[in-house]
Amino acid sequence: MTAPPPGPIDDPLEDAVNLDDLEALARERLTPMAYEYYAGGAGDEVTLRENRAAFARLSLRYRVLQGADRRDLRTTVLGQAVSFPALVAPTAFHGLAHPRGELATTRAAGAAGTVMILSTLATEAVEDVVAAASGPVWFQLYVYKDRAATEALVRRAEAAGCGALVLTVDSPLLGRRERDVRNRFHLPPHLRARNLLAAGMSELGPDRHDSGLAAYFHTLLDPALTWADVGWLRAVTRLPLLVKGVVRGDDAARALDEGAHGVVVSNHGGRQLDGAPATIDVLEEVVDAVAGRGEVLLDGGVRRGADVLKALALGARAVLVGRPILWGLAAGGQAGARRALELLRAELDLAMALAGARSVAQVTRDLVSGIDGCGRGCTSGPLDLG
Ligand code: FNR
Ligand code: LAC
Repeated sequence: MTAPPPGPIDDPLEDAVNLDDLEALARERLTPMAYEYYAGGAGDEVTLRENRAAFARLSLRYRVLQGADRRDLRTTVLGQAVSFPALVAPTAFHGLAHPRGELATTRAAGAAGTVMILSTLATEAVEDVVAAASGPVWFQLYVYKDRAATEALVRRAEAAGCGALVLTVDSPLLGRRERDVRNRFHLPPHLRARNLLAAGMSELGPDRHDSGLAAYFHTLLDPALTWADVGWLRAVTRLPLLVKGVVRGDDAARALDEGAHGVVVSNHGGRQLDGAPATIDVLEEVVDAVAGRGEVLLDGGVRRGADVLKALALGARAVLVGRPILWGLAAGGQAGARRALELLRAELDLAMALAGARSVAQVTRDLVSGIDGCGRGCTSGPLDLG
């Protein structure tokens, strides 16, 4: 017998060549209800698609002969050191993807040297997540009509040792995700939004006519939130604050006026207002409006190292990654979520080498232009061959 030819080894995680491969693996393992909840967007899913398409429309004007033998991907976000500029976005209900849920995701983030942003709607409690963590955990906050319960969440996040708060402001009501309406999305009985156990708001049962999550939001979360509430939150806590879900320069500037330390340019992964712009298309407006008064992060459709490079070039401090982490988690628990982060890191490292950037500081504005010609910072026009 001859030895088998060298080929793919029988480890689906190792065989996953990119983040889309992880999605295919995850889809095989998830119930259709869970897969569609993770994958879906609002309405016609135009914004969901645009987040990706807009990255594809940008081209990279790479530099040559910069000495690319060593790259340093490290940076800081709100003073927190990270091994590369990608953080785990807050996403709800990791227990739908894997029995260890957010415990596994958080350990993956720590192992990859980055920040885990834990959703208010996690299926594990913040105390347990931080206790299991091997790296920094930040807490994403949804504001409930019950402000005492909301304040209690903030206190628990602080006491547990979370390093920052991320206030999500794009969800006064839940976007209409038609896949979830059709599936009557709900949590199976063994899963709870455990941060809300004490407040008696941890169950997310099926609704007769709607997504159970939409019904939960409409009943319990506070659609009356205003800018004054950002000031309220600043008074309640000394944790650094990011405002997540802005797509306009004026809103970003207002967030900083109200005391936020930064913003996340986000349309919630196309899950809230369908028709919202792709985040990468509005990043520069936000960066200009913030004018160095705070940090600007971006999420939505980041699937490639080159996407991270483009976001950094247009002024983002770092990106957040949502769905790919869930795909990794579903495909292989902690190792799978880690694989998602390591694939992205390896792609960014390669993209930096090929673009002639040895550090994130060298990822400058001139590296990006529109695919059809020159963007701002581009000095020479297209060649005239006429
Ligand atoms: C989210 N997102 C989200 N955001 C938030 O502030 N709190 C939350 O609980 C959730 N939950 C959630 C669940 C799922 C399944 C998804 C896909 C997204 C939005 C998330 O933080 C982020 O903005 C997007 O996921 C980024 O887009 P990509 O990377 O998924 O394309
Ligand atoms: C979502 C909520 C929970 O996007 O943020 O599903």
